[in-house]
This record gives sequence, structure tokens and C-alpha cells, in this order.
Amino acid sequence: MAEERTLTILKPDCVRKELIGEVTKRIQEAGFKILAMKMTRLTKDIAGGFYAVHKERPFYNELCEFMSSGACVPMILEKENAIADFRTFIGATNPAEADEGTIRAEFADSLGENIIHGSDSVENGKIEAAYFFPGSEVVANQA
Ligand code: CMP
Repeated sequence: MAEERTLTILKPDCVRKELIGEVTKRIQEAGFKILAMKMTRLTKDIAGGFYAVHKERPFYNELCEFMSSGACVPMILEKENAIADFRTFIGATNPAEADEGTIRAEFADSLGENIIHGSDSVENGKIEAAYFFPGSEVVANQA
């Protein structure tokens, strides 16, 4: 299987619950290599640009409000089959439907506040990674 990259965001609820360390530890233990990470607070416009694909959905405004409501931690992760494996690792978008042992099943409260984001395709992973990190902030060679 090919090496892939995915963009994750530890969302404002993850930061507020002081779970940055716990979730990051689990990400690394699951074999994902962190190539870039930072803490930032999104403006509503920056959040809106990231989720532009959902612009026409009824939850778009609520989503942008939530994503700009506090600090978040975007990261670029690398692993074989990273896109699918990370989505399995975090669990279903709605935590009520997430498999036991997944990040969302364990830590998330609701569909809107679901702790963590993961890219849904290799192509979107590239677009999302570039939204947060210029190439100079991606450390692929860590030897
Ligand atoms: P995420 O994987 O970050 O991608 C889009 C987000 O929209 C999703 O997680 C959810 O948090 C959010 N979302 C999806 N459906 C709804 C909904 N019906 N109401 C509120 N938020 C939603």
C-alpha cells in the first residue's frame, strides 16, 4: 500500500477538554507520523473557507461558529493507507454511531462537536494540508 497524507484538526472541543496530549499520543501509537502541527485560532472566514464544500448545508454557519470558537490544532499525518486508516481510527462523524474504541466514541459529545477532523480522500488531503501549512512547514525528512 502507498504512503498517504491526511490532514487532521484537533477541534476546539478537544482543546477545551485538555485532550491534545491524549489524542496526539493515540495518533502516534496508531502509527501516524506527524509531519506538521501547530496551534491556531481560526477566524470564522478561515473556518468557512476550509469547509466551503458544506456552504449550502444547513449546519454550515453553526460549524463555522464552532470551529472559530477557540483554539484548534491542525496536523499533517503520514502513513500507509492514511486516509482510510485515520477515518477508521477516529470513528463515524456522529459519535453516537462511532465504533467502540475510536476517538469520537470515547471523547466526542455530538455530531457538531466531534473532537477531530480527518480528510476524506487523498486529493482533499492535499488541498486541506495546503490550506494550513506552506511546504516549508512540512517536515518530511525527520532523520
Ligand atoms: P468533519 O469531519 O470535520 O467535517 C464536516 C463537519 O460538519 C463534520 O465533521 C461535523 O462536525 C459537521 N456536521 C456534519 N453534519 C452536521 C450536522 N447535521 N449538524 C452539525 N454539524 C454537522
